[in-house]
Amino acid sequence: MNLPDLKKAKERTTNKVEYKDLKITESKDFLGKKYFLRTYGCQMNEHDGEEIEAILTYLGMTPCEELEMADVIVLNTCAIRENAHDKVFGYLGRIKHLKKERPDVIVCIGGCMSQESSVTTELKERHPYVNIVFGTHNIHELGPMLLDARKDHQEIKVYSKEGEVYEHVPYERASKITAWVNIIYGCDKFCTYCIVPYTRGKERSRKLEDVVKEVLSLKEQGYQEVTLLGQNVNAYGHDLDESLEFSDLLEAVAKTGIARIRFVTSHPWNFTDKMIDVIANYKNIMPYIHLPLQSGSNRILKLMGRKYTKEEYVTLFKKMKERIPNVAITTDIIVGFPGETNEDFLETLDVVDACQFDGAYTFIFSPREGTPAAKMKDETPLKEKEERLYTLNQKINEYSKKANERYLGKITPVLLLGVSEKDKTKLYGYTDTMKLVNVATGKENIGKILDVKITDAKSFSLDGEEMKKESVG
Ligand code: 5AD
Ligand code: SF4
Repeated sequence: MNLPDLKKAKERTTNKVEYKDLKITESKDFLGKKYFLRTYGCQMNEHDGEEIEAILTYLGMTPCEELEMADVIVLNTCAIRENAHDKVFGYLGRIKHLKKERPDVIVCIGGCMSQESSVTTELKERHPYVNIVFGTHNIHELGPMLLDARKDHQEIKVYSKEGEVYEHVPYERASKITAWVNIIYGCDKFCTYCIVPYTRGKERSRKLEDVVKEVLSLKEQGYQEVTLLGQNVNAYGHDLDESLEFSDLLEAVAKTGIARIRFVTSHPWNFTDKMIDVIANYKNIMPYIHLPLQSGSNRILKLMGRKYTKEEYVTLFKKMKERIPNVAITTDIIVGFPGETNEDFLETLDVVDACQFDGAYTFIFSPREGTPAAKMKDETPLKEKEERLYTLNQKINEYSKKANERYLGKITPVLLLGVSEKDKTKLYGYTDTMKLVNVATGKENIGKILDVKITDAKSFSLDGEEMKKESVG
């Protein structure tokens, strides 16, 4: 049994990264069995889910949509806020019930929650019917763990490693059009509210040539878009070579000629001019940046350990808007950080007014055990925090509607991804600036980038129609 260790997860003692080749376990032991996978959280977790799917597929299993039908259940968890925890423990209630009726079902928990010692303790003491617990550093061990699993036994294998990167990871990708590509794992920023540096470990970059190779292979397979993934993409490369930075990677990926390139997430602290120039210079790098603000109060930013002031944020924001034509910028904001006063909150609203974001994800501060902010004095009642969130959301929605309205009557390229959930006669897709568009056009256009005329603008989406090419003669 290997249990997570918060102290070890905090260590940043080595700059050495070990690059290893992942050997996937192939077996027929699970041939014909069904798996149920549920993934919570960010894109990084979604992408990990694609690795989990590949592992289960190599064992001979096929997916199913109903928990009750499954032979193997995997919950790929998120730890960012308490409600993510609650969802998983809520789900475990259903699974416990199921296990009583069908004791042969194998239950597995992976992802960020597994990296927390409080969670593994709770699983050990109160949920012994969970058979396998694996972490973010050893997803590849899920295969061997499943082959060894016994219905009445719990095996916990979670590590807190600093420097390992696996290459040749197989993915069962959810889409044939857009793909996620990891470029840097982990985070060394240690923002005081955030659990990620503990659950995901030290920052470690993939080699530039390995990323480029993966993008080229995706392009050959017909993919139109890649999203480069990292908790903080700006940190890319510093552990490989002092002179290598994210802009070098971005440029190398742009030169592969893949149609669309995106990246998430960017920290405002070390977003260099060179990065802005590269984004502006390459047509296939999409003019869309997710730039978390977190707070508009310098006092709170300092308490959060964010390493920038609101003035620096706004200056960077304006520079991006000036230099990157038509750029859309979205953000993340936390309200109710410990000690946040109404004045601090009003300063956040001021920055929102100054930036008029295209969109934002907004959250109430959630204390995460083991992080510095969880120990800070927090006297604001929840009701007041909820009111702040409501006020903020009103403003955010107003600006995203305004940003969408700018598209009315314009013609813009849209990458079409599939049939719209709301209206089956339409397809949905995204503009280069990451606006969701529902387009009246035929299914044969899935996977294509079409010129679309925008006919309606709402807060969260646009409607459009395909621009028919004029026939000549
Ligand atoms: N409480 C609330 N929101 C959080 N985030 C990260 N940690 C917390 C927390 N403890 C938010 C941040 C981050 C986004 C992914 O989640 O805004 O950018
Ligand atoms: Fe968390 Fe800050 Fe790292 Fe983002 S940069 S993952 S908010 S510690």
